[in-house]
Amino acid sequence: MRQIGKWSRLVIVTGLCVLGGCNGHSPFGIFVDSTKDCAEMLLQRDVQTVAKTREQRFLGKVPDTTARCLGGKRAESLRDGPWLDWPNYWAAGDATSLAPARLLAHAKVIGPNAHGINGALYELELQRIELIKFNLFDNNKTYEAYVTGRNGEAGPVLNTWPEMRLPQSHRDFKAVGGDQTQVCRGELIRFRTLTGSCNDIRNPLMGSTHQLFARNVEFNTTFPDLGLNETTRNRHGDRLGLLKPDPQIISRKLFTRAQPQPDRCRDGYGLPVGAQEAECEYKKAPFFNVLAAFWIQFMTHDWFSHLEEGHNRPDWMAVGCATQLVKNIEQPLSGEDIKQLGCRPDDKIDAASIAEGTEPRSFTQGGKTYLTRAPKTTANHVTAWWDASQLYGYDERSGKRVKHDPKDPAKLLLMPVREWAGEGDKLGYLPVFEPGDPINPEWSGQEATAFPDNWSIGTSFYHNVFAREHNAFVDAFRKQATRTPDGDSGLRNPANLDPNRVIRYRDVTPHELFEVARLVVAAEIAKIHTIEWTTQLLYDEPLNRGMNANWHGVFEKQEAVADALKEVVRRLDDTNDAKKANSLYAALAGGPGIFGLGNRVYEGVPLVGLLDPNKQDRWDLKNDDHINGGVNHFGSPFNFPEEFITVYRLHPLLPDLIEYREWNKEPNVIRQKIPVIETFRGKATEVMRQKGLANWALSMGRQRLGALTLQNHPQFLQNLKMPRLQSPTQQIDVAALDLIRDRERGLPRYNEFRRQYGLTQLTSFDDFVDTRVPKDSSARNEQEQLVKTLREVYGQHQCDSSKTITLARLNDNGSPINDCLGHPTGSLIDNIEDVDTVVGWLAEFRRPHGFAISETQFVVFILNASRRLFSDRFFTSSFRPEFYTTLGVEWVTNNGPGQERMEQGTPNGHVQQVSPMKRVLLRTMPELAGELQGVVNVFDPWARDRGEYYSLDWKARAGAEDDEAFANK
Ligand code: HEM
Repeated sequence: MRQIGKWSRLVIVTGLCVLGGCNGHSPFGIFVDSTKDCAEMLLQRDVQTVAKTREQRFLGKVPDTTARCLGGKRAESLRDGPWLDWPNYWAAGDATSLAPARLLAHAKVIGPNAHGINGALYELELQRIELIKFNLFDNNKTYEAYVTGRNGEAGPVLNTWPEMRLPQSHRDFKAVGGDQTQVCRGELIRFRTLTGSCNDIRNPLMGSTHQLFARNVEFNTTFPDLGLNETTRNRHGDRLGLLKPDPQIISRKLFTRAQPQPDRCRDGYGLPVGAQEAECEYKKAPFFNVLAAFWIQFMTHDWFSHLEEGHNRPDWMAVGCATQLVKNIEQPLSGEDIKQLGCRPDDKIDAASIAEGTEPRSFTQGGKTYLTRAPKTTANHVTAWWDASQLYGYDERSGKRVKHDPKDPAKLLLMPVREWAGEGDKLGYLPVFEPGDPINPEWSGQEATAFPDNWSIGTSFYHNVFAREHNAFVDAFRKQATRTPDGDSGLRNPANLDPNRVIRYRDVTPHELFEVARLVVAAEIAKIHTIEWTTQLLYDEPLNRGMNANWHGVFEKQEAVADALKEVVRRLDDTNDAKKANSLYAALAGGPGIFGLGNRVYEGVPLVGLLDPNKQDRWDLKNDDHINGGVNHFGSPFNFPEEFITVYRLHPLLPDLIEYREWNKEPNVIRQKIPVIETFRGKATEVMRQKGLANWALSMGRQRLGALTLQNHPQFLQNLKMPRLQSPTQQIDVAALDLIRDRERGLPRYNEFRRQYGLTQLTSFDDFVDTRVPKDSSARNEQEQLVKTLREVYGQHQCDSSKTITLARLNDNGSPINDCLGHPTGSLIDNIEDVDTVVGWLAEFRRPHGFAISETQFVVFILNASRRLFSDRFFTSSFRPEFYTTLGVEWVTNNGPGQERMEQGTPNGHVQQVSPMKRVLLRTMPELAGELQGVVNVFDPWARDRGEYYSLDWKARAGAEDDEAFANK
């Protein structure tokens, strides 16, 4: 265990203070605990601290004293295996994880439940700090400066990069300063620009459309199939290739949903006209609904796209269904095998687009050689910002697809398209693409919006909802303007001679109002995702606290404290020790929250004065440092890493059939089973208009989504018909394609992926089995069967302990990790190193309580979900009325117009606002008010009884006992 130095103590105490400070729990609870185990933990200095080097980092594993202190004997007994320890702490699960009353369980200051949660939060914060420290690898040629520094400044605190300047060919090159220092000003900084440029005013190109994806793993571990270095060759031998192991075999053996009645499912295409008799089995997650599945697709369309206009490189390639391993030897498939497996050798797909494929330059620093980028790079064809670009556009062509209301250009065009069944219908529906709109032929017949690819009822739903929300904001603003036409709207124009000149309500132009509404909608979406979707995806108390801390901070109701902490964080910019400053910044930011960091400035106020509620805010639109001062990129320009896309390959979330219901005709009754595929592309628009937004909300709100696990991919996606494909079948197995794309883009395989992110490696497929599940249960049996299938598909090899397979970590005794992973040399071991990352994380049967995703995916989110807030000026220092208007700031803060509204009771022990998505649904579909009354989180199945404390039970709430979904476990 590492010794605790002065600096590490500071970070620990800061982390605990910030995270544990919430809700009255003592930040120092752990330190003042009187129990024997906690005292022992402290005496032995068993407290984890921020690692100095990559090999020493925290693996989420703690010593037995810590486990006992934070989770009692149970936590200690569950420490075996590679999985995180904090999920076993007191209060980190459901009611059964709460400490027994005799242990002063509910004592707020020293109680074990508080310790368990604070301990978990501390470890999560430690992970985040180390992820920021060890996992940033930019592909846009800034990595060398990150390692070597520039002009005496250390890499991790650099905050401008020549590579982020606008090129001469850019329309705004001159406007930002041309060949001189580039700074965005005036019109360019007022709102989110179409291509995402000028978010960071000193790095105009950052996050904009067509920038390269970054990496979170060392460049020399990418593209393992190419065997570019000795360590990689040692790790995988010659066992890997684009189609090795065969991706369609993996899909058919490890991804297919078993169907007891295949002719009622028909490859996911269901039965005609939504017949009730249709049945496609899937494994369901009881605490997450289909709205949540489509929400995340809607999000990914905002954040990233490898495809440009829905296409890749027109170079048609085979996609497997050719070979399989038989007793560890690759054999061609026979016709009989193909028939039995149901795969298709004639499928083809267009190859992934590669931005750069030439050999990267290398450089040396401190005797070590580094690559300047990954061996191949790819571009993000949308803006990387959380800017609702899927609704509003990310380049000129997509921008032209967005239709303004000609009667009020501040609004999006919505049309009355159906008989009026509920209040919401009056608000209208998106129009359909017209001839002449810049689209691919396959998108015709769909609703007009910026990102139209892979359209279905789910994307149609969210695009319509947020178009209505956009217009709701415009309406509220116009109402306010009618009431107080001469009042100060809060908006300012930095392009004015006097940027601080008041803009009255009456003077706000339709263009300005449209852009303000975009800012508001984007921030609302970010808020919904952070504190509503994610807290249901990761349904337990530590994550509930953690996500709320990311957004509001832990001092939500103590504005003066939050303000003071914000200022302290802002001043960290002046700290000259780069890595320490970054770590402290990340730790402290949990205090005031990331959202709104730097949006008030108290320059000149001494530290003691920061708690004075009457101190003067000196934030000034004329000051570039104030506008941009809240962002922190931690030395590496922001874009998503390739690894982020992999962990969002969440296709198993989708059911094959949607259980269709009607809100005004007994919502407990399932009326039809509508195949998702029957809503693909233009068909979505038809059924949306036919059945109406509110009925789809109800149907998808009540239905459970698919669990992210093996043998649970939608059949319709394995058999997706796409007429654009130049192949005899014109079909593609999207599940297999997920693996192929990752291989084309050089994802490290699962075990190295985990080591790179600071997680413990697995040493055999058996490690996947959740040993907490009783040995003779059907669940355990299923897991063991799947392990056998993994072994059959990926194979085994005779290991050689002389071969070092990774540089990311060392064995506990300090020796290099070798091919035998602790097994005797020469023994037959599992090819665990070859497992595709997606397969690996789907095979993680053991998960923290309430986690719909695996811990491997989660660790990727910890880093990148924080970064996309930290890096965005509009979520930090420019979250101000000067950009959002006063109404806009209130709308985002209070989840809508007027005062904040509180939820009844104390869900999971918390007083909480009516959730932001619930408020959006109530505004856009008022007819759902009755149905939504008992809903606390829109992404929890609407008719589920949430129970007392993070229950995952599938049990009907009062009034929904007749809902047949509850008869079906
Ligand atoms: C009707 C629903 C859906 C359809 C038809 C669909 C279809 C597809 C297809 C065909 C691709 C492959 C594109 C390529 O690489 O050539 C893809 C990629 C992807 N899908 Fe889906 N998908 C659906 C739902 C979802 C959902 C619910 C998620 C959840 C997050 C999701 C996440 C992704 C991601 C992350 C990629 C990779 C995108 C990229 O490389 O930029 N999809 N999908």
